[in-house]
Amino acid sequence: MERHSSKWYNVQSVPQSYTFPPEERPGETPIIQICHKIPVIDLEKSLVSSSEKMETIKQLLQAGQEFGFFQVINHGIPEDVMSQTILTFNEFFDMADEQITNVPARKGWIYTGSEQEVKDGVHLWRDNIKHPCHPLEKCMQSWPDKPASYREVVGRYVAEIRKLSLTILELISEGLGIESGYFDEQSQVQLLSANRYPPCPDPSLTLGIPKHFDPSLITIITQGNVSGLQVMVDGKWVCIGAVPNAFVVNIGNQLEIISNGMLRSVEHRAVTNSREARTSIALFVNPTPNCIVEPTKVLLNESNPPLYKFILYKDFINASKAFGIHTDAIQKEA
Ligand code: OGA
Ligand code: NI
Repeated sequence: MERHSSKWYNVQSVPQSYTFPPEERPGETPIIQICHKIPVIDLEKSLVSSSEKMETIKQLLQAGQEFGFFQVINHGIPEDVMSQTILTFNEFFDMADEQITNVPARKGWIYTGSEQEVKDGVHLWRDNIKHPCHPLEKCMQSWPDKPASYREVVGRYVAEIRKLSLTILELISEGLGIESGYFDEQSQVQLLSANRYPPCPDPSLTLGIPKHFDPSLITIITQGNVSGLQVMVDGKWVCIGAVPNAFVVNIGNQLEIISNGMLRSVEHRAVTNSREARTSIALFVNPTPNCIVEPTKVLLNESNPPLYKFILYKDFINASKAFGIHTDAIQKEA
């Protein structure tokens, strides 16, 4: 109890060091303005018949083209896997401060309490943990071991998301005309980044994650029952509604390149709210470091010349560091 009252976010007003400059703040306009246009796609339908599958593929491509974001439902991942994973992260974040002080030599995971995390001189309104997830069995050994269920629960979640990511990438490749199995090899690296955004006394001043693009192929996010993920749509920031048991999926920079700009990687950010804590879990599905990322040949012709040069994924990451890449999505070098 006592510990709780000493948490960094237990304040009456937002400290100066957490206040973003006016041009970056969410401001006074309704922060949680839900965009109902961002599609919610039923994946089960794609299993029914080949015409339903073509319809699902069409919806995925359209959403990727128009918004760079969509949600998926009936994805086959059991509800309890999702809810238990959120619960486990909530427990983790409740005890994280003690974990950090008690486990000096952490290997394979990075916890950042808000006090330690500063972007352009301003603290983010979140606590965060990141770690690699592939190959799963090997990575798991170095994940947190508290709460006691962490490795088992998060391991099951990651295995399920891996399958889901391949399903989604396979449907997208079929739509683009890329050969089946293309992404099985290319998307071997997954990184998990879980966030807890505590309630904030003035959400108009703070950000959980400032605006960014994901340098992934795709990112798969659970946001539980609390919305706060904002996407740029027609020049305005709008929220993605919290749909029960849905996953939010977004197109990352690498899939934008592979699709020669047909699928868009769109800027997004995480805002806070004053009522309740929000927990989100992002799984970044990335190419392997030496993977060559380039517009797929099948899409190119005289009227559709390549808009991007080929690049090794690791060179993309290194080059982007100079421009402030979203570091949640990339593996820290050893
Ligand atoms: C991210 C991200 C959004 C969220 O982790 O890259 O955009 O809602 N997260 O936490
Ligand atoms: Ni992101």
